[in-house]
Amino acid sequence: MSITRYAWRMTAEITDSKARLEALNKAALAGGGAARVKKQHDKGKLTARERIELLLDPGTFVETDRLVTHRCNDFGMEKQRIPGDGVVTGYGLVDGRQVFVFAQDFTVFGGSLSSAFASKITKVMDLALKVGAPVIGLNDSGGARIQEGVESLAGYADIFLRNAKASGVIPQISAIMGPCAGGAVYSPALTDLIFMVDQSSYMFITGPEVIKTVTGEDVTKEELGGARAHEAKSGVSHLTCEDDADCIRAIREVLSFLPANNHEPPPSKECTDPAHREDESLDTLVPDDPKRPYDMREIIERVVDDGDFFELQPAYAQNMLTGFARFDGQPVGIVANQPNVLAGCLDIDASLKAARFVRFCDCFNLPIVTLVDVPGFLPGVDQEYGGIIKHGAKLLYAYCEATVPKVTLITRKAYGGAYDVMSSKHIRGDINLAYPTAEIAVMGPDGAVNIVYRREIAAAEDPVASKDAFVAEYRAKFANPFKAAELGFIDEVISPRITRKRLCEALAMLKNKRDDNPPRKHGNPPL
Ligand code: HXC
Repeated sequence: MSITRYAWRMTAEITDSKARLEALNKAALAGGGAARVKKQHDKGKLTARERIELLLDPGTFVETDRLVTHRCNDFGMEKQRIPGDGVVTGYGLVDGRQVFVFAQDFTVFGGSLSSAFASKITKVMDLALKVGAPVIGLNDSGGARIQEGVESLAGYADIFLRNAKASGVIPQISAIMGPCAGGAVYSPALTDLIFMVDQSSYMFITGPEVIKTVTGEDVTKEELGGARAHEAKSGVSHLTCEDDADCIRAIREVLSFLPANNHEPPPSKECTDPAHREDESLDTLVPDDPKRPYDMREIIERVVDDGDFFELQPAYAQNMLTGFARFDGQPVGIVANQPNVLAGCLDIDASLKAARFVRFCDCFNLPIVTLVDVPGFLPGVDQEYGGIIKHGAKLLYAYCEATVPKVTLITRKAYGGAYDVMSSKHIRGDINLAYPTAEIAVMGPDGAVNIVYRREIAAAEDPVASKDAFVAEYRAKFANPFKAAELGFIDEVISPRITRKRLCEALAMLKNKRDDNPPRKHGNPPL
């Protein structure tokens, strides 16, 4: 057993306070001892303190509760007390801005959560909520401290309650940098963003062994709950990072888009990219042929400041893009259909992905820029049985409810209910623009003529030619933005090259927007 496991008992015998403090500090900084630190490094992982060091501006970390120890006297635990008890907590600065942090230390009791450990976390969460600053949790833990039983479970619940109370008040960011299993996953799950480290982190409610016993399925830890699984399949994670350092860099970057709390505007950044910059290449980016796909990311990258798009969940529901960017130095959230995947249609996963992101932006005063190219909702038995009705309604609800500035640009298709849902004028879109290539109608030409002119086509001498003629007629009448513009549902049909200019102008105009919802305890979105 490592000498540090006895640190607390040994220091109790030191009568000189200064010497005792020195010994306690030494024991706290040593964590679980050199051998366990080496094991951590050998796995390619940093220690809790190294992670905090990287996260915060140099020299700004102030540690709280370094001398806290657990209070368990069972299973020989009374002989093993390590100052800090396996979690490093405190506050510091990121790019000069206040944040609070806790980092679970896997080298001490496997980073497992005791009631003292939980109290250290809830203390920084309470402080963060009082002063209105983000909380960043660096998770690397074997879960509930087995020796503490229900006290450990109570500790988790204390954290969950604070996660829920802080939701929408201060940004909460979770990094998963090691194990995170069982009910322990629910604290990160209640936070705003989850970043996972590839190959060294995993999250699951029940692990491979239990699954094997209960269902007979064979699956590895990585397949079940690794970063790639949660990025692409479950949508639990927002980003997969290469290693600990990459993850921490991503957290610092994402914080640069976010306000400290719900009462503050997001931080602006000096912008050298001209707000009125035109881009001729946009005039030909959207293909004339409505069936030809294109990459909506290209439009985003050509119009935002310096082409800098911080994409979230890039591997999940790829028919929908979400992420942060800036216009003229001001952060925004971007929601965009991706015509390159499933023609950009709305399905269950895309609706969930975008709905949560829209609500996140609305909580934290981030204007929402919506780029629309959507042929409608994805047809299918799976989608209907899976509840596309309630999941699609989540996105609709989120947009209806959002009071932040909302600017919408229809680049091509905006058909059916999806037109309404994607931040249309009717659900409080503030400025709604369209390219001349926009098509706004109840449904696409093929579907429409099959319904409206079914008899005429069937009776025609040449049904194919007849259908083509009806499609052409329908296109001329409906597959354009002019009817919507005539009705004021579209504020302006713009030439694509001036997209950035118009978006910057709209966002600048909307900067002081004030809007609210009727007083109520809370709404009842179709969760
Ligand atoms: C106490 C724990 C612990 C735990 C690990 N350790 N998990 N101590 N409580 N939950 C200790 C180990 O005894 C060991 O101590 C050290 O941490 C490192 O663990 P290893 O097993 O040596 O590490 P490794 O091989 O990397 O395996 C990591 C692990 C494994 C996969 C996380 O330790 C493990 O399966 N732990 C138990 C996980 C678990 O079932 N947790 C409860 C989940 S349920 P020494 O002294 O040898 O270094 C839960 C409920 C939450 O969390 C409910 C919330 C509502």
